[in-house]
Amino acid sequence: MPENPAKNKNAADLAVSFCGVRLKNPIVAASGTFGFGREYAELWDISRLGAISVKGLTRQPRQGNPPPRIAETPAGMLNAVGLQNPGAEAFIKTELPFLRGFDLPVFANISANTPEEYGEMARLLANAGVDLIEVNVSCPNVRAGGIQFGTDPAAVARVTEEVKKNAVSVPVAVKLSPNVTSIADIARAAESAGADGISAINTLLGMRIDLRRRRPVLHNNTGGLSGPAIFPVALRCVADIYRAVKLPICGGGGVMTARDAAEMMIAGAACVSVGTATVFEPAAIPELLDGLPDLCRELGVGGIAELTGTLALN
Ligand SMILES: Cc1cc2nc3c(=O)[nH]c(=O)nc-3n(C[C@H](O)[C@H](O)[C@H](O)COP(=O)(O)O)c2cc1C
Repeated sequence: MPENPAKNKNAADLAVSFCGVRLKNPIVAASGTFGFGREYAELWDISRLGAISVKGLTRQPRQGNPPPRIAETPAGMLNAVGLQNPGAEAFIKTELPFLRGFDLPVFANISANTPEEYGEMARLLANAGVDLIEVNVSCPNVRAGGIQFGTDPAAVARVTEEVKKNAVSVPVAVKLSPNVTSIADIARAAESAGADGISAINTLLGMRIDLRRRRPVLHNNTGGLSGPAIFPVALRCVADIYRAVKLPICGGGGVMTARDAAEMMIAGAACVSVGTATVFEPAAIPELLDGLPDLCRELGVGGIAELTGTLALN
């Protein structure tokens, strides 16, 4: 049976705040691994989530990359889905009303070809009433609208400024790529351009090869590595960002368990995104949530938010 905090006076307070948005617990369904929540809503009560970050949206609908788009790896997976999505307007018309049926903050994850297009999407989605804009400048699987912005501090600043100008009513978090020399420098660029928060990390660029054909397994040649294999990289990135900027961080990358989520918070995350765990096991998030109250007791915290940024470096 899931815990009922109302019945247990000593239950830990799991609520956190991210960019001024109140989350009932720190767990965010990561963009691209949870669609718009419809499939999971048939399996468990998705209003248990702290928040949902929806599949990456673009201005126009996208088919994504040709198959194969997924490859297995030890302790993770490679994907080159290429931002398949119905487009921002279809999202506003059909998916957002569905999600509004749940007591759940909705983060709109956006990609675009130009800073102006990012701004236009941000305005559309902010006006439609999403709770937060998550600016994806870190997708490794598309030619435009992703990593070509995210690896250049000046381009990240330019995109952030444009989004902030257009989404006045809604907080803006910038989602960063680990495929850079210094993720702290990129976070500083987003902060100086007015971002309200940072989301990190997106996937690591990788490849698998079909031995017989001597060709890459993925049609796109390369893909984004996610899952437990990247957890230590994600922790290091979040700890670096926490020391570089004052912004709250949505930390993720390879989080599988409640203990992983707590490590991520100690590294500096205000909330924690969970992606590939859900691809491996559809009930991964409710299982993780069930483990948080006992873990808070074990760690001696009354409120889980007390963990954030408590890392003491050697
Ligand atoms: C199949 C798949 C699709 C993804 N699509 C998006 C996307 O549309 N936008 C985005 O910002 N991140 C996307 N991501 C990245 C995840 O949101 C997350 O940042 C990354 O996978 C690391 O976390 P994880 O190891 O918990 O999955 C995708 C990841 C996967 C595996």
